[in-house]
Order: sequence, then structure tokens, then C-alpha cells
Amino acid sequence: MTDWFKHWFGGEEYHELYSHRDDEDARRAVALIRSVVTWGSGDRILDLACGPGRHAAELTRWGGQVVGFDLSRAMLRRARERTTAGLVRGDMRALPFRNGSFALAVNLFTSFGYFLDDEEHRRVVQQVVAALSPGGHFVLDYLNAEHVRRTLKVTERTEGRDVLVTRRIDTANRFVIKEIELRDEGRRFQERVRLYSADELAALFTDAGLRVAVRFGDYDGAPAGPNAPRMILVGART
Ligand SMILES: C[S@@+](CC[C@H](N)C(=O)[O-])C[C@H]1O[C@@H](n2cnc3c(N)ncnc32)[C@H](O)[C@@H]1O
Repeated sequence: MTDWFKHWFGGEEYHELYSHRDDEDARRAVALIRSVVTWGSGDRILDLACGPGRHAAELTRWGGQVVGFDLSRAMLRRARERTTAGLVRGDMRALPFRNGSFALAVNLFTSFGYFLDDEEHRRVVQQVVAALSPGGHFVLDYLNAEHVRRTLKVTERTEGRDVLVTRRIDTANRFVIKEIELRDEGRRFQERVRLYSADELAALFTDAGLRVAVRFGDYDGAPAGPNAPRMILVGART
């Protein structure tokens, strides 16, 4: 399913399965960003693929004019209830923003790597960089592919509701594919995320005109590395 993300993120089930990705989790992520990038009340901040707005709400608390951007109407409805940030609906492959208009752009909790063609991922990063002002920053909070490959939990059952989650690495070894089966309802969803290595992510940044300023391995600021759960890159527009 090429556009799996249009089905999965529109429904209630995503929120049930990822209920631990809550406001507290967002507070930690934003505190980490804040430890390396500061912004003032006049600065514009883009939360790319903002989902239900948990980071947009937290970013707004620190000042700045935050804009949440997402493809899903259902996500944006949730975001509307949570934050006063501006909200824009669209596809990250065609960003509607003026060049040089954001001091900071963030893409958090693996909201990238969804397309089959790498060229589309490159285009996303290039457009983000174009939307940044000179010296602006882009923070990408991504899965750590090395860690995923080594620790893949092939099957998992959730407590309560009858949900079976299976995971595999496929499509020529380039993606992690998660199948979510709601057995009580006989429905299935898929998540498919590109397993970009740390070097490949850094190359996406540098090719688009970003200098990798820092890398973190979790929201507490641990160093990036093979055993870290996340790969968080902070890039500065050169
Ligand atoms: C894993 S969720 C994370 C949401 C949010 N960043 C968070 O941490 O709560 C990924 C988000 O990406 C959005 N998304 C998926 N494909 C997109 C696209 N092509 N353009 C814009 N947003 C997209 C989904 O609608 C969803 O809200």
C-alpha cells in the first residue's frame, strides 16, 4: 500500500496504539530542542507533520509563532483542540510556505521516511531548508535504523483489545514494515518506514544545505549510537 499513511493516521487506532506518546513525551522532546536552539517571540516555527499538536502546543509555550502542518484532517482536528498554533493542511512533498520564513522546523517522532521513492524524501528536506531563514535549524527525530534492525520484535499482542502487531524488514531490506491487525474487527493497517542509516540521514541533510550541528540518541540528550533508541539530528542552514 503506497499511501498507507493516509489510512492509518486518519483513524482512532493510531492514538490507542501510541497512547504513551503523550504531552509528557512532547515536553521532553521540546526541552531537548530548546537546549540547543533558542527562539524569540517574533520567530516562526514549523512543526512538520504535527499530528495531534502535542509538540506544537509545547513549542508555543516557549514563545514564537508556531505553525503545525499535517496531511490528516482528523489529526488537525485534534490539534485544534490542543493548541493555539496556526494549522495548515497539506502534503510535506509540496510545502506551501514562503522561502526563508521559518527560524526553526521540526519533524518529530518518525514523521518522515514514508515514501517508496527516496527522491521524495530528498525533496521534503530540500523544501524544509528552502523554508528556513539563513542560520535557521531543522530538527529531525527519527528511528535509529541500526537499533531497529537489531532489536526487531517480530510479533506483539496488545493488552485489552485484540490487536496483533507484526514487524518485518522488507522491500529490498530498506523498510521496516509494521502490520497492525485489529482482530476483533477484522481490519488491518500498515506502517512502512524507510530504514535510513545515520550516515544516509546526515547525507540528506548536507546535500540539502544543512550542517549537522548535533546528534542525540534519545529525548534526554544521550549521545547517538548503535544502541540508542532514536536518531535525532539537529541541522543548521548553511
Ligand atoms: C507518527 S505521526 C506523528 C505526529 C506528531 N509529530 C507527533 O509526534 O505526535 C506522523 C504524522 O505524519 C502525518 N503525515 C503523514 N504523511 C504526511 C504527508 N505526506 N504530509 C504531511 N503530513 C503527513 C500524519 O498524518 C501524522 O500526523
